[in-house]
Amino acid sequence: MSALEAVASAPESRISQSLASENPYRSRRTFAIISHPDAGKTTLTERLLSAAGAIQKAGQVRGKASARSTRSDWMEMEQQRGISVASSVMTFDYQGLTFNLLDTPGHSDFSEDTYRVLTAVDAAIMVIDAAKGIESQTLKLFEVCRLRDIPIITFINKIDREGREPLDLFDEIADKLALDLTPALWPIGQGVDYKGYLDLVEKRVVGPTGAPGAEWDDIEDLLEHEELIADPVFVNALDTLELARSALPKFDLEDFQAGHLTPVLFGSALKGFGVAELLQALGEWAPEPRPQPAEPAPISPDEPKVSGFVFKVQANMDANHRDRIAFVRLSSGKFTRGMKLRNVRTGKDLAVTSPMFFFGHDRELAEEAVAGDIVGIPNHGTLSVGDTLTEGSAIKVTGIPNFAPEIIRRVRLTDAIKAKQLAKALNDLSEEGVAQVFRRMIGADYLVGVVGALQLDVLGARVEKEYNVPIGFESVGLEVVRWVESDEPDEMKRFIAAQKSHMAEDRNGDPVFMAQNAWWAQRAQDDYPKIRFLATKERR
Ligand code: G4P
Repeated sequence: MSALEAVASAPESRISQSLASENPYRSRRTFAIISHPDAGKTTLTERLLSAAGAIQKAGQVRGKASARSTRSDWMEMEQQRGISVASSVMTFDYQGLTFNLLDTPGHSDFSEDTYRVLTAVDAAIMVIDAAKGIESQTLKLFEVCRLRDIPIITFINKIDREGREPLDLFDEIADKLALDLTPALWPIGQGVDYKGYLDLVEKRVVGPTGAPGAEWDDIEDLLEHEELIADPVFVNALDTLELARSALPKFDLEDFQAGHLTPVLFGSALKGFGVAELLQALGEWAPEPRPQPAEPAPISPDEPKVSGFVFKVQANMDANHRDRIAFVRLSSGKFTRGMKLRNVRTGKDLAVTSPMFFFGHDRELAEEAVAGDIVGIPNHGTLSVGDTLTEGSAIKVTGIPNFAPEIIRRVRLTDAIKAKQLAKALNDLSEEGVAQVFRRMIGADYLVGVVGALQLDVLGARVEKEYNVPIGFESVGLEVVRWVESDEPDEMKRFIAAQKSHMAEDRNGDPVFMAQNAWWAQRAQDDYPKIRFLATKERR
C-alpha cells in the first residue's frame, strides 16, 4: 500500500457515539498548538474555533481579550506588549467530540508555564511558517513534546504566500526534528500560483476557494483529468507529491500516536485553507486521554475514582475576581461540583465548590468533568504546580518538571525592612511556578531563576504590586544551572565543599550547581564523573 493509500485508509472515526456516552472521557481531545511567534497560532486558533462553530467570526479571540477592561496590571503589561503571559484554556464541541485547547504563550521569552502546559495535553498541532521552516521556539517546544511522546499534527501555514518548496520543508523538518513525516494535504502551488490542494485523506482535489473538485481511488486517476494536467502548477504538485511518496513512510495511526510520525497538512490559517481538515484530523487521529504517569502506578482514565494534577497556577486572572486559580487536568473518574478532593502533598481535603471551565478569559461553573478536561479551582495558596488531587488515595502524578533556569539573578531589596515580606513573596510565587528561587550556600542572597526574561518582569511587577515590596534584579555572572545528585554521598560532599561558592539550594533544599557558562559547567562534569548534572527536576 502506498503512503497515500495508507493515509486515506486511516480509520474514519475511532470512537462511536455510544462508546463516548458510556465513557464520556473517550470523546475528549486535549491538545495545544506549538509554534514560533508569528507563525500564525492565534489566527489558527480563531479559525479552528470558528470552523467548529464555537465563535461567530475569526478575530473574536484576540478581540475578546483586548476588549476587556478588568485586568490586573500584569495582564495589562501582557496586553501592551501584545503577548500572552498567561496560558488559557478553550473548550469547544465539534462532531460529538469535546476539544480542550490549551493555549501556550507565543512570545520567544516564554516561561516554564509553556513547558508545563504540554504535560497536560494528549496531542499537539505544530504550526510552521511555510517561508521560514523550523524556528528556534518550534524546536524547543517540539523537544518537550518528544520527552512525553506527544503525537503531533504538522500544519505548514501561509501557503497563500510565497514560501519554500514543500519537499525542502519536509527535508528540513525530518532532519531537524528527527521525525518521520507523511503528507495529508499537499499544496497545488503557492502564493499567487495557489490553486488549492490535494486532500490525501478524502482522496479529492480542493480548489483555491475551497470547492471540492475531482476525486480519485488511485492518485494516478488524476492523470485522466485533462483540464487538471493542462496546468503546469498542478503537474508540478503531482510530481513533487510522487517524490515525497516514494521517500516517505506510510501513515500509521500507532506510529502517530506514539509520537514517531507526523501527518503534514499545508494550509492557510488566514484564508481558512486546510483548517476544517486539520480539525477533522485532530478528532479522528489524536488520542483520547492517555494514562497518566504516576507513582506507584500509572492512572488509567478508566479508573472510576477522580484524580488529577495541577499543571499551572495563575493569580489575578481578572481584577473582578481577585483570586488564584489552579488549573487541574483530570486524569480519571467523573468529577462533580462540590466534591471533596485530597491534595496528596499536604494530606488536606478541599471541597471544590466553585470549579470552573474556561473559554479564553471567560469562565463558567463546571458541574461535571471527566478525564482530559481542564478545571480551574480557585484557592488561596493551598494548591501548587505539581500537586496531585484524588478522592483519598495516595497516588502521586509524575512528570511535572522544573526546568533548569537559563537566567539567574540576585534579588535586590530596596527597602531592607521588607526582608520578611520578600521571603513570603518569593516563596508564594515560586510555589505558583512564576520563577524558581534559590538560596546560596555562602551568604544569604536570594537568587531567582527563570527560563525567559519576561518571567523576571512578571515576578518583579507582582512582588511589588501584590506584596508591596519593590525589588530589582542584578546579574551574578552565572549562566548555567544544574541540579546535582550522586549515588555516593562522600563524592557529593567533596563536590559541594570544592564548589561552595557556586552552590545553592532550591526551595526543597536540593543542591544546585551554578556555572559561569557552558564551558565551566562541562568542566565540572568532566572533573566529577560520579556526580549527575540534571537539567530538569521532578516537582515536589
Ligand atoms: P502567532 O499567534 O503565532 O504569533 O501569529 P499570528 O496568528 O498573530 O499571526 C502572525 C501574522 O501572520 C499576522 O499578521 C497574521 O495575520 C499572519 N498570518 C497568520 N496566518 C496567515 C496565513 O495563513 N497567511 C498569511 N498571509 N498570513 C498569515 P500581522 O500583520 O503580524 O498581524 P495582523 O495585523 O494581521 O493581525
